[in-house]
Amino acid sequence: MTADDPDLETAYALETPGDNLALYARWAETYDQSFARAMEFLMPGHVARLFSAQGGQGPVLDAGAGTGLVAEAMQAGGAIEMDALDLSQEMLAVAASKKLYRNHIVADLTQKLPLPDGEYNGVVSSGTFTHGHVGPEALDELMRVAAPGALFVLTVKTEHFEARGFAAKFKSFGDRIAGFSTVSLPIYGPGAEGAHKDDEGLLVVFRKT
Ligand SMILES: C[S@@+](CC[C@H](N)C(=O)[O-])C[C@H]1O[C@@H](n2cnc3c(N)ncnc32)[C@H](O)[C@@H]1O
Repeated sequence: MTADDPDLETAYALETPGDNLALYARWAETYDQSFARAMEFLMPGHVARLFSAQGGQGPVLDAGAGTGLVAEAMQAGGAIEMDALDLSQEMLAVAASKKLYRNHIVADLTQKLPLPDGEYNGVVSSGTFTHGHVGPEALDELMRVAAPGALFVLTVKTEHFEARGFAAKFKSFGDRIAGFSTVSLPIYGPGAEGAHKDDEGLLVVFRKT
């Protein structure tokens, strides 16, 4: 790896959707190997297991789907209809090559989404509500495109939960959501190295009422 290669430190230093576009365009081809496999990235598997354990059903929107690691983990438990949404065309091209999703939607989660109301019975997201990526403002649109009863399983970087307004945002939903719970889990496996190897992430689970 050279100083110019994309890595976790570069990803955590992002600030704007434009920064994200530039990084993930360069990272798409090597992301699975140089990041997910090297760091034993556990979040896609955590999300898939929780979604299945809670009886989640399709169609499912994968918000910030990237190269499709959540779908890989979810499809391992049996076929489920999923759409991938991501800002990065290059990340979605890698996901598309795996033939896991029904649709691949290039869109910005911080803007109005090009999707109808109530389209999805599930919304999943791994690694996208994190440093320099997407904040709680995206949750209104994800709620809009979810059907009544839809199951949400989202990861949120633990230190952002209170500090970046996620806790307040979930509270503001009031009785529009039910069964809200969080669990803190390691983001990376025992083989991970570097300053972030012991980081934890929150898995946030709830249903839209
Ligand atoms: C760390 S990757 C996670 C990808 C995948 N979910 C996984 O678990 O491997 C974060 C993803 O969020 C996407 N992203 C960042 N900002 C975004 C935005 N504003 N709207 C949509 N996707 C965004 C990036 O393009 C990238 O694919």
